[in-house]
Amino acid sequence: MCGIIGYIGKREAAPIMVEGLRKLEYRGYDSAGLAVLSGGRIAVRKCSGRIQDLQSHLAENTPSGVSGISHTRWATHGPATDNNAHPHTDHSGNIALVHNGVIENYQSLRDVLEAQDHVFHSDTDSEVLAHLIGYEYYKKTEPDTQERLLDAVRAALRWVKGTYGIAVLHAELPNVMIGARLGSPLVVGLGKGENFLASDVSAIVRHTRDAIYLNDYDLVAIGPNDFDVYSLDGGAAQFEVSVVDFSEEQAELTGYPHYMLKEIYEQPESVLNAMRGRLSIEESTAVLGGLNMTAQELRTIDRIVLTGCGTASHAAMVGEYLIESLARIPAEVEISSELRYRNLPTDRDTLMFALSQSGETIDTLAAMREGQRKGHRVLGICNNVASTIARESDGGVYMHAGPEIGVAATKSFTSQVTIMTLLALTLGRMNHLSASDGKTIIDELKAVPEKIRTILKQDAQIKKIAQKYARSKGMLFLGRQFNAPIAQEAALKMKEISYIYASGHPSAELKHGIIALVSPETPCVFIAPDDSVFEKNVSNIEEVKARRGPVIAITTEGKTELERICDDVIYIPKCPDYLSPLLTIIPLQLFSYHIAVELGCDVDKPRNLAKSVTVE
Ligand code: G6P
Repeated sequence: MCGIIGYIGKREAAPIMVEGLRKLEYRGYDSAGLAVLSGGRIAVRKCSGRIQDLQSHLAENTPSGVSGISHTRWATHGPATDNNAHPHTDHSGNIALVHNGVIENYQSLRDVLEAQDHVFHSDTDSEVLAHLIGYEYYKKTEPDTQERLLDAVRAALRWVKGTYGIAVLHAELPNVMIGARLGSPLVVGLGKGENFLASDVSAIVRHTRDAIYLNDYDLVAIGPNDFDVYSLDGGAAQFEVSVVDFSEEQAELTGYPHYMLKEIYEQPESVLNAMRGRLSIEESTAVLGGLNMTAQELRTIDRIVLTGCGTASHAAMVGEYLIESLARIPAEVEISSELRYRNLPTDRDTLMFALSQSGETIDTLAAMREGQRKGHRVLGICNNVASTIARESDGGVYMHAGPEIGVAATKSFTSQVTIMTLLALTLGRMNHLSASDGKTIIDELKAVPEKIRTILKQDAQIKKIAQKYARSKGMLFLGRQFNAPIAQEAALKMKEISYIYASGHPSAELKHGIIALVSPETPCVFIAPDDSVFEKNVSNIEEVKARRGPVIAITTEGKTELERICDDVIYIPKCPDYLSPLLTIIPLQLFSYHIAVELGCDVDKPRNLAKSVTVE
């Protein structure tokens, strides 16, 4: 997490960086800061709080200069204080650094440096790296040159155990900025007479569409008119200039009060985009060219492992049900942070999928690499096409959902579930699904975007229900089969943005302990569409009602009998069991959104969270 933007060119750096930081705020918003180089001096301004706090801080005294580095922080080492904000400078005050990642051995490095009279001003691991670069730089007495700074960065990074995306400035070297990455993303933006470094292209897309996505162990030196990409161990590194494929407008609010609401409303389109061009009517199947696997190879798959974190893991859980029921292939979900350290027995014909909106989640990336190390083919399901997972995976399927800015994932979830359905269909058609089964699935899938639109039309009613329950002490979400993961996803949404404690469970688990929580202050939300377990859900609802627990039900049009036993009912259009998660989640996203708004919470930037978790 943490967002970095650096600028070097002809224009004033500070306003460009502040505007870029706003686009990166989703990566962390505990503190912000910048350093601008001018007249042989580095001026640092930083403070705890958000970008707007930094802006107020700058209002009286914005440093002037045409190169600078900046940062928005998600705190790892040390609380969100002014001193812990980046940039950090070295012992001499001539070198400034911003860092995204974690230096795991920072304490031992700090001990060594303190023994040499280095004085630290923060609790951060990042300041140690700034000092280490200074230490390496001033070990030598050569003239100040780009090579000397590059060598110092290289030498310092060799000491480091951990992850980093960094940008470095030296007061005496106005024409160069150094960047490096290992485990945390860093992009070079190529402009005309100006260049950029950023954690994510969204920060620079206003200025340029030409970008180089650095690889791990890459080092880059940029000037206003030139750049060089090196490898950490010396020598030139391979790189490719890509053209960024999204526009700035896609990342704007366009009249919505929050990105989360905008992204919820984009789902008819984003779900369509996930299936666009991937359905073959003639063969009654899906066509997923990006899997990079022949039909023969796909046919030999006898087990599927799906991995991801947070919302992506919930989409994977829906995938598990889909693959098992439509393709009859054993599938299981492993949370990436666990999988990366497990020694899961797998055999040659196990196929792995890494699901990640950002494609940068460090645990998912590590789980993917572990799978690859063991010789498995790992395919990525990502939204961010230039992300590390997208680039390192052995193939995959892009979501094409457009930028998702709200920290709480919404449209990426439904895109992932759509892709899981396409995958299950593809594999199913190679196994036991008939052409007419395949056609039915395709027809039903194509009808989903319009059905989502129908649900969105009920927003005003959902808002009223949300306002009624906004002050609940806690909430329980319950669902079965395809909707058991939806209960978990809905509970996650509620916790993330409204801070109401919520948990999601398979409905029948209620009686194994959870029912002890039921009370008039703790409503239960039942996801009970008209499916094979509808009656079972109704029995569980009765059990809650018998204990005076309020019940809100999400069910299918026509199931009006629930109105008799539930306090509130929200209807979704009719659909087959296996597609119901794509519909049931929509009212639940709106429900948590409206509760958070009612409680005055910062919906798009919930406390303590960051959208892209690039630290372990
Ligand atoms: C963070 C976000 C979640 C997201 C998870 C996985 O925790 O706050 O919303 O689901 O990361 O992110 P990914 O980019 O890998 O899908």
